[in-house]
This record gives sequence, C-alpha cells and structure tokens, in this order.
Amino acid sequence: MSYNSIPITDLIQRRTSCRSYDRAPIVPETQARLAEFMRTESVGPFGAAVRAELVAATEDDQSALRGLGTYGFVSGERGYMVGAVHPDRPMAFEDFGFVIERAVLFATALDLGTVWLGGTFTKSRFAAAIGLREDEALAAAVALGYPADRRGVIDRLVRSGARGDHRLPWEALFFDGAFGASLGRESAGPFAVVLDMVRRAPSASNKQPWRVVRDGQRWHLFMQRTRRYAPRNALVGVADMQRIDMGIAMCHFALTAEELGLAGRWAIEDPRIALPDSLTSYEASWTT
Ligand SMILES: Cc1cc2nc3c(=O)[nH]c(=O)nc-3n(C[C@H](O)[C@H](O)[C@H](O)COP(=O)(O)O)c2cc1C
Repeated sequence: MSYNSIPITDLIQRRTSCRSYDRAPIVPETQARLAEFMRTESVGPFGAAVRAELVAATEDDQSALRGLGTYGFVSGERGYMVGAVHPDRPMAFEDFGFVIERAVLFATALDLGTVWLGGTFTKSRFAAAIGLREDEALAAAVALGYPADRRGVIDRLVRSGARGDHRLPWEALFFDGAFGASLGRESAGPFAVVLDMVRRAPSASNKQPWRVVRDGQRWHLFMQRTRRYAPRNALVGVADMQRIDMGIAMCHFALTAEELGLAGRWAIEDPRIALPDSLTSYEASWTT
C-alpha cells in the first residue's frame, strides 16, 4: 500500500494542514494524476460514490478560482477538491470523509499541501463550481497548493487556536473490551501503528471525536460528539462535520491495516457495548 511509492504511514505523518501556499500553479501532470485518482477511487467503504471535482488554476488561466474565497484563513492556494453527497444516504458523510481523505493522502504523495475546509469558505460559489444538485449537500472542500516555505501569521494563529499539533492521549481514545478500560499501546500488538495513524487524523476544529474499543479480533469505532456540534448537525442537509471526521479516521485505519497486512473491512455490526454518555454512538467495526 503506497502512493507514488511512498508508504501510507509516511504520508499520514507527512500531512499537516497547510494554510499558506506558494503561489505557483499546480503542474498540469500533477493535476491530471490527482483528477484521475479522484475519478477512479470514488467509492467509500459503505458503497456511496462521492462526486468530487478538482477545481484548479492553470498557468494561463487563474479564473477557475475566482470568487472561491476562504475568508482569509488560507492564502495562495491554487486549487480545491470540492465534493457533494446525498445527505440522506446512511453513512454518506463517512464515505465522503473516507474518499476525500484518501485523495488528500494521494495529493500529499504528489508534494501538495492540503487543508480540509468545513465552514470557512463561500458555499454558494463552491456549489456553483461543481453544479450542486438539489438532492445533494456540499459536504466540505480541501484547499490545495505547494506549501510556502514558511507558515503565514494566520496559519500559525489558526493552528494554535485549533491546537492543530495536539492529540488526545492514547488512554482517552482507545479501549480494551469496554469504555473505561484503556488499551495500552504495548497491548495493541500489530494494531498499535494502525491506532497511531488514526490518532494523527485531521478533524474539524481538531476535536478528535473517534474512539476505538477492541473486542478480540474486532475493532469497534465510536463517535463521541462535541456538544457544541451536535444539535445543529442533526438538521437535514447540513454537512455533518464530525461524521466526516469519522470517515477520515476509517480511511487512516483501513489504509494502514492494508499496508501492514492486517486484512479486514469496515462493517456495521453493533456490539451493543455500554456507552459512556449520550454523546457517544456506534459507527462501524473493523472485522478481520
Ligand atoms: C471536516 C474538517 C473540517 C475542517 N474545517 C476547517 C476550516 O473550515 N478551516 C480551517 O482552517 N481548518 C479546518 N480543518 C482543519 C483542522 O483544523 C485540522 O485538521 C486540525 O486542527 C488538526 O491539525 P492538522 O490537520 O494539522 O493535523 C478542518 C478539518 C476537518 C477534518
């Protein structure tokens, strides 16, 4: 499992959100390879085909990006991945997160910087750019470009605001048999690296809603919602950022497990184990 001959575990560790880009356009061959990847690798683990497009400026024509503002959080980006889903389909946002994160890792292998954008962009312009249909939701976008040599001031502020370099400790994320029984890294066997890669996943406002409970050969994934995000996202048609986060985590888990020869697949087989609170819900299980 590698993209452009670079192992997935390297790509996951190489990726961090990039908010300041060098203004050089993305070279045409790179655009073509990324667009081809997005076209062929478009289905998520639960079967939803994600409609995503690469919108990029070229050397001669910068107009593709006109009006696609990002409220000043991101500067110098030379393109976007923009995607839409049918929001009513079960696991639609998880499939979306999975498919787009896989493309983010492929873009990382092509030396591109990326940042997921859930809220800080002009929705109507992006919707127009991909011809959003009535039954679709514009789930999120990813800005693209070559990273600037130095992070800009805004980038540094946003990073420290979202505590982008920080992750919750293992004990708070991974459990053995039941919530409350922390899984030590040394007890996770070959899956320790898989969980390390889950822990490095990007998430909206770096809230890290993913929780994993080991159960013999199975790994159950749960979402622990952030209170502030919960009610608004229950509205139909509003992109559910934390479910996108869950899909991103499933992508890191699956690609890393595949790379390490730990074959399996994501399936919905609720083990009905006791939940720690009302914000936590079952998502899916990695079954070998
Ligand atoms: C679904 C989603 C939406 C996001 N939305 C934004 C956004 O609107 N603006 C922004 O600057 N960063 C956004 N981010 C980036 C996160 O803040 C970032 O992933 C997190 O702080 C962790 O930092 P890292 O990506 O460098 O590891 C988003 C990330 C995800 C996964």
